[in-house]
Amino acid sequence: MRKKIIAGNWKMNYCVNKGEAFVEEIKNSINTDEVDVVICPNFVSLDRISDAIDGTSVKLGAQNVYFEDKGAYTGETSVDMLAAVGVSYCIVGHSERRQYFAETDEIVNKKAKKLLEKDICPIVCVGETLEERESNTMFEVVEKEVRDSLADIDKELIANKVVIAYEPIWAIGTGKTATAEQANEMCKFIREVVAKMYDEATAEKVRIQYGGSVKPSNANEILNMSDIDGALVGGASLTNDFVAIVNY
Ligand code: PGA
Repeated sequence: MRKKIIAGNWKMNYCVNKGEAFVEEIKNSINTDEVDVVICPNFVSLDRISDAIDGTSVKLGAQNVYFEDKGAYTGETSVDMLAAVGVSYCIVGHSERRQYFAETDEIVNKKAKKLLEKDICPIVCVGETLEERESNTMFEVVEKEVRDSLADIDKELIANKVVIAYEPIWAIGTGKTATAEQANEMCKFIREVVAKMYDEATAEKVRIQYGGSVKPSNANEILNMSDIDGALVGGASLTNDFVAIVNY
């Protein structure tokens, strides 16, 4: 039985004081062992949010990382730096990073591997554009992203540490949610790709989230689908809606 994982991706929202106040307000209502709950604030808020969730079951996630250990990489943040403030998950390859910051599958793969070296769980995002869905190339596109982003990662790590987030780009921040069936169809397909890359046992264990306009009104249906093991929540993670989603 795969434990559900619900992660809030704050993106570039909330300065530290506001973020901290929000976490103080909701933390008791999202303190649960039934699902893994992760909050992903911006880099400069990680340390204070880490303190704010201390003593709860809520985990800290980052939104990005760099794959080099240290050195002359102005503006970048290493895995050790994340670990030092208590980060246990890190989103990699979000479509906004792929689109605005030219992140490729190869970069995503390097980041995921570096995170795993230090025992931080990567949340690896994949997903097709509207054009790709309409031209029916979405399975091809997503398969390539999954294969290339997860290349050369040990199957034990895939089964126990890696989280895959299926986020159709056309459903992110648009209010357009994939239907629960569409989301499940792709998550199931991703599981089949993992089975082809590794084996059935690994595919049965890997957790696959859906992300894209998840809100309280659709969370229950989405999270009860056979192959969806959680949600990556953007906009709705900034309000009390997040509490409702966690308690779906
Ligand atoms: P959204 O974002 O929930 O605002 O659509 C999801 C995401 O980008 O992770």
